[in-house]
Amino acid sequence: MARLSRLVAVFLIAGLVTGTAHAVLGDIPFKRKKGAEAEASVPVAVFPHWVHRIRYKCYACHSALFEMKAGANKVTMEAIMAGKSCGTCHNGKTAWAVSFDTCARCHRGQ
Ligand code: HEC
Ligand code: HEC
Ligand code: HEC
Repeated sequence: MARLSRLVAVFLIAGLVTGTAHAVLGDIPFKRKKGAEAEASVPVAVFPHWVHRIRYKCYACHSALFEMKAGANKVTMEAIMAGKSCGTCHNGKTAWAVSFDTCARCHRGQ
């Protein structure tokens, strides 16, 4: 968690929150429980379904990685950075990795 707090701090200082696009049709915004202040200040992640659907068969994700139901999957940065969930692919090999440059690609807000 200490590591995540540092990431959040740098994310905020970098000002990446500003100027991000919002969800479009077909995107699935994640929901987040009310938590720490730092966590609340990073906009919620949005999953662009079509960007992935055109690249993968459904079974690449359903249901090995994700239940086929919006809101049914608990996703955390800890899991992603451990190479699970979105991090199965967003690891710098299959797809771009989590870094200060990429926070805002996923965290677009609703
Ligand atoms: C790269 C991974 C990935 C691929 C490939 C993928 N999905 Fe998904 N799908 C997700 C995620 C992530 C969610 C959202 C889950 C959540 O909100 O907890 C989702 C949600 C869904 C939902 C629920 C939508 C809702 O509003 O409840 C359906 C239906 C679905 N997917 C169908 C498909 C079909 C059909 C395909 C293939 C054409 C497909 N998915 C391919 C990751 C994927
Ligand atoms: C590949 C997509 C992706 C990237 C890149 C990414 N995140 Fe996340 N993150 C998510 C998803 C999905 C969730 C779960 C839904 C939510 O809470 O927004 C999440 C959750 C979070 C949370 C809520 C607490 C937690 O651990 O679940 C924080 C804070 C967070 N991310 C910060 C960051 C920061 C800071 C960066 C950049 C260093 C980053 N994220 C990069 C997808 C991503
Ligand atoms: C099966 C592998 C896989 C999984 C799982 C996966 N992604 Fe991706 N994702 C990709 C690939 C491949 C791309 C395209 C990479 C590129 O263009 O360089 C991509 C692109 C993206 C983009 C950029 C979309 C755009 O407009 O260019 C976002 C945002 C994203 N993923 C978020 C997520 C989130 C959030 C999750 C977890 C809920 C997730 N991805 C899970 C493979 C995956």
